[in-house]
Amino acid sequence: MRVGRIGIWIVLGMVMGALACSTAIPRVGPADAERTGLSMDTLLAGRDIYITKCSGCHVLYAPQEYPDHAWLDQVMAMKVKALISERDVELILAYVRGMNGA
Ligand code: HEC
Repeated sequence: MRVGRIGIWIVLGMVMGALACSTAIPRVGPADAERTGLSMDTLLAGRDIYITKCSGCHVLYAPQEYPDHAWLDQVMAMKVKALISERDVELILAYVRGMNGA
């Protein structure tokens, strides 16, 4: 099958797009638990809640996009929009701050 020059760029674009999406919201591993001093359960629950409760209105922001203090401001600002509990806030913050590399 001949894909042609334009076809290759389209395929490449789709591959890059898929890669960008899968790296934006990093997965949690045992090394992250060790590094942050948080349990895997906490980090996994935080990631889960972040994805389910925060993706309804806009694309998810990668943890690396904000330092710790900015994440606190952002999540507090979104708390009313996303209708999440205090516990959800804590778990989301544990995840995004644990994974932002700060
Ligand atoms: C009901 C819709 C809605 C939900 C749910 C929601 N957001 Fe937002 N979010 C917005 C809107 C609208 C904006 C842009 C305007 C603003 O900043 O208020 C925004 C902006 C943001 C920004 C970027 C602000 C900036 O300075 O550019 C971040 C970060 C963010 N949201 C995080 C979250 C997180 C974390 C959650 C989950 C707790 C969440 N959002 C859930 C509507 C929502």
